[in-house]
Amino acid sequence: MKGFEQLAQWVSISDSPTDRENHSADISGHSPRKPDIVAYPESTAQIARVLSWANAANIPVTPWGAGTSAEGNPIPIRGGICLSLERMQRILELSIEDRLAVVQPNVKYRELNRQLSGTGWHFAVAVGGDATIGGMIANNAAGPKAVKYGATKAHVLGLEVVLADGRVIRTGGRSAKQSCGYNLTQLFVGSEGTLGVISEAIVRLTPEPAFEEALVAQFPTVAHALHCASTLGGLDAGSIEFLDRAYMGFLGEDSADTLFCEFHTAGDGAEADRRCWAAGATAVRRATDSAERTRLWAARLRAYTASAEANLNARLLTTDTAVPVGKLQQMVSFLQDELLRRRLTGYLLGHAGDGNVHVILPWISEAQRQAVNEFSAAAVEKSLSLGGTASGEHGVGIGKRKYLQREHGATAVGLMREIKSLLDPVGILNPGKLLPD
Ligand code: LAC
Ligand code: ZN
Repeated sequence: MKGFEQLAQWVSISDSPTDRENHSADISGHSPRKPDIVAYPESTAQIARVLSWANAANIPVTPWGAGTSAEGNPIPIRGGICLSLERMQRILELSIEDRLAVVQPNVKYRELNRQLSGTGWHFAVAVGGDATIGGMIANNAAGPKAVKYGATKAHVLGLEVVLADGRVIRTGGRSAKQSCGYNLTQLFVGSEGTLGVISEAIVRLTPEPAFEEALVAQFPTVAHALHCASTLGGLDAGSIEFLDRAYMGFLGEDSADTLFCEFHTAGDGAEADRRCWAAGATAVRRATDSAERTRLWAARLRAYTASAEANLNARLLTTDTAVPVGKLQQMVSFLQDELLRRRLTGYLLGHAGDGNVHVILPWISEAQRQAVNEFSAAAVEKSLSLGGTASGEHGVGIGKRKYLQREHGATAVGLMREIKSLLDPVGILNPGKLLPD
């Protein structure tokens, strides 16, 4: 605790090996690093106390939600203070009338939806892990439903943010429409804890679909599956996802290139069923019953966590490129060719409805690490050449910093640096992330 004792007068802190260990890694393959201490603020005022103290003492502060990030985003790579927000998980207000919820940062999105069940309204972003809403905002998480509802950024009306020096600001507000001043809310969305700490959020509620039908279809190749996905536009799809046969086999499922879809209008499942057969499907299953839908979708739902857990000896590199959706087939066939050419093992997983594809590449040795990194660089280069991005939804974190300038250009990255130094002149907030050195 040496050097941090003073903090204990304002906030609960711990330097126990377990607490430090539990805040050292996310679900990515990035190397763990323990913080010196973990602080557990219970209020905005306590966050402000920690930040103003750390700012004066030039000590790194890395905010922590649930640790479910996939790009090393919350790993405290420079040590210092891990600011765990786990004691701030109260839902402060649910207003169906205003179609919004006001939440503390560590409310899990699943918990918010449990509290909303029966109202006909929900928070419409869903991701694989049991993520917190603060973390989802900080990373602009997206997930399988983004094809219909968009990423987290479309669901944030306003924020309360604690700045590096301890000042507190409110951005946005409670109205669905806002056109008053610079959009500071969106500056903090996706800023990965590098510009401020989100201490409260006003999020939009969306009507729940009155009808849900799952459809899972197998195809002889990924190209068939993706071609089929491209014919589903215009249907009321809540999700259009795919896993390649290697991934399915790895998960112990039928080893076939598979589309996982969800439809929200009666009749669209049947229409999609016809289009799947027309596109060369070898099997199509559908379900409307809730338990049956979950069963059909089980492989998709557990895919990423299962691969992270299964490779106990290996680390995983996960690519996260996203291209304009019409370029997805071109992108994926490039990735498949590159895997073959480089003789790499990689599992493909994608949000076929919106052009976002992941390749999961296990590595053990230094030579393999280098090989998967080279693959990742080639994937990013291809994505950019097709008008896409280095990261569709996992954020920049540690692994994508080297591509920021390539994607946005030196002038834009220079402006990002100026924004960073305006808001965090000492550089205490999540150092070593997002911006390149
Ligand atoms: C998913 C994670 C890898 O799509 O983003 O499951
Ligand atoms: Zn994903």
